[in-house]
Amino acid sequence: MAEKTDVSEAQIASHWKEEDYYPPSAKFIAQANMTDEGIYERFALENVPDCFKEYADLLDWYKYWDEILDTSDAPCYKWFKGGLINASYNCVDRHLAKNRNKTAIHFVPELEEEKVDHVTYQELWVRVNEFAALLQDFCGLKAGDRVTLHMPMSAELPITMLALCRLGVIHSQVFGGFSGKSCADRIVDSGSEVLITMDAYYRGGKLLDHKIKADEACEEAAKQGQTVKKVLVWQRYAGKHSAETPMVEGRDFAVNELLKNYYGKRVEPVKMPAEAPLFLMYTSGTTGKPKGCQHGTGGYLAYVTGTSKYVQDIHPEDVYWCMADIGWITGHSYIVYGPLALGASSVIYEGIPNYPDAGRCWRIAQDLGVNIFHTAPTAIRALRKIGPDEPAKYDYEFKHMTTVGEPIEPEVWKWYYNVVGKGKAAIVDTWWQTETGGFLCSTLPGLRAMKPGSAGPGMPGIHPIVLDDEGKEVPDGQGKAGNICIQNPWPGMFQTIWGDRDRFVRQYFERYCKDPNSKDWRDWPYLTGDAAIIAEDGYVRILGRIDDVINVSGHRLGTKELESAALVVEEIAEAAVVPVKHDIKGVEPDMYVALKPGYEASDAIADKVQKALVEEIGPIAKARKVWIVPDMPKTRSGKIMRRILAAISNGTDVGDTMTLANPEVVEAIKKMA
Ligand code: WT7
Repeated sequence: MAEKTDVSEAQIASHWKEEDYYPPSAKFIAQANMTDEGIYERFALENVPDCFKEYADLLDWYKYWDEILDTSDAPCYKWFKGGLINASYNCVDRHLAKNRNKTAIHFVPELEEEKVDHVTYQELWVRVNEFAALLQDFCGLKAGDRVTLHMPMSAELPITMLALCRLGVIHSQVFGGFSGKSCADRIVDSGSEVLITMDAYYRGGKLLDHKIKADEACEEAAKQGQTVKKVLVWQRYAGKHSAETPMVEGRDFAVNELLKNYYGKRVEPVKMPAEAPLFLMYTSGTTGKPKGCQHGTGGYLAYVTGTSKYVQDIHPEDVYWCMADIGWITGHSYIVYGPLALGASSVIYEGIPNYPDAGRCWRIAQDLGVNIFHTAPTAIRALRKIGPDEPAKYDYEFKHMTTVGEPIEPEVWKWYYNVVGKGKAAIVDTWWQTETGGFLCSTLPGLRAMKPGSAGPGMPGIHPIVLDDEGKEVPDGQGKAGNICIQNPWPGMFQTIWGDRDRFVRQYFERYCKDPNSKDWRDWPYLTGDAAIIAEDGYVRILGRIDDVINVSGHRLGTKELESAALVVEEIAEAAVVPVKHDIKGVEPDMYVALKPGYEASDAIADKVQKALVEEIGPIAKARKVWIVPDMPKTRSGKIMRRILAAISNGTDVGDTMTLANPEVVEAIKKMA
């Protein structure tokens, strides 16, 4: 048995074999927004930052900028300095001349018997203006103020965001599934005096009381010293309060009531400096309190508009559906700001993908004529598990599909491609982070072939590099992994952590900074925190967070590789690997798997999983135990909670499970131990 040794990230072994290329179809290429090979040359490292003028020019500026990148406060950069711009104007007003009658937002309620709300650009403009007038007049909000939103998926959510940025107010939307307490932490950190929420929303067929979380949030924020002066409550059914929790006199106001006073009001968009903050998006790292990633106006908007055009391939006539929640960065960048800046029709779905049955997503796609579809591997695996043959029953045609959020196992990728995409859609695997505002690595779908399991090369103007622990470059094509960094700044990157510049520098730049006093961006590579391998063709394969790597007898195995190997087994729908303490090996992997419908748990299936681990990776990867579980414990956003599985495997306390989407499965799994 090998002895446990310390090895660096650079020695993480790679066992996941390179897959074959899938070229995009001629039909896709013929209509693609970007088929000019020259884009990579124009956005080469030596042309950074000037190349990003091309993205800035997709926007309308009140005053054109005079300096593309100000590095005087590196690594806090200012993009498009001197420019004046408004995001609300760019996402709404500028489309009226040609497209006022076009749908901006298709809001799909979870209940199928309720009508889809098709909000045209004209209607969006009216509603954004009236609500902006209310925010300005009734709440006294002005540029630079922060407002916390705790809203479910609804048309009112982007309306609220666009009304706030029309005034230059910084919004901070908290994912609706989060608790009142999480909302409070974000209210306090951002110093918000106004909270905007909704009384209720549907999830899994139930009308949830969401207003109660506002009460909890205000109470907890007050304890922490931040008073919320006004709570604005949108109504799920206008004219009616749909929550059991009552309104608090003098603090809570029904938006629909107040709006009557602002009928017909119009508010000129405030001409904001390009570097003014547009919004905060909190992200909870593995340790410490949540960080408010601060995104700027001009740089962020330029970057998400450019990438929506060239990677998402959005044309004005497309119907685009990103199934993420707007409470995550994916929703901000690729449901709201990017698509609307391009004048697209963006679908917002209130509920869960499998309500009331496994065909729901495909019915929505069919009925609205969705042709661009965007989701995450966790949803793809879930849809494959509950209805592997459902897509074929519906008459829709995707030209383009996206995967985002975690590495996608090649087996799952192939189901997405063949069954959901019916072999016709181009797929982009987009690797990026809350911090980065938009995509870092992806194929440009009209220019580069897809490769299952690989995100693809750096985006134009994004120059990734893999560094070892000593800061030496790990060359491409050697199958060696390390810390993936970005060598240069780009307009979408966050400006700082709200109120904590030191943490921003420490966490993302200190490790590889060549000179802490330097004003030259070349001295400040951005540390993503992910482990990755760059293949000979320049395609990047993300192995996951550096911290998620399992070290068995000194062999560092990416959890994702093990999970991917298990998914090669026909019966397996989902897999999760966790480390179990072992005296000699340090840790051993425990493998949790959930089966596709119609299969029964058996020793034979567990043996097949072990065999796959050995065959795909090697004997070192053999699991201590294969657990065939009824379902994985998951967060409300669908991420598998490996922490809980690890606690069960190691016989430690599983902690609080009440925030899970399915706390009952934890009890069921514990009984198997
Ligand atoms: C982390 C960022 C990207 C917006 C939503 C998640 C992982 C993200 C991919 C991908 C492999 C991916 C990384 C990254 N990740 N996309 N296509 N392939 N891994 O944003 O919550 O800030 O998470 O998600 O580990 O660092 P986030």
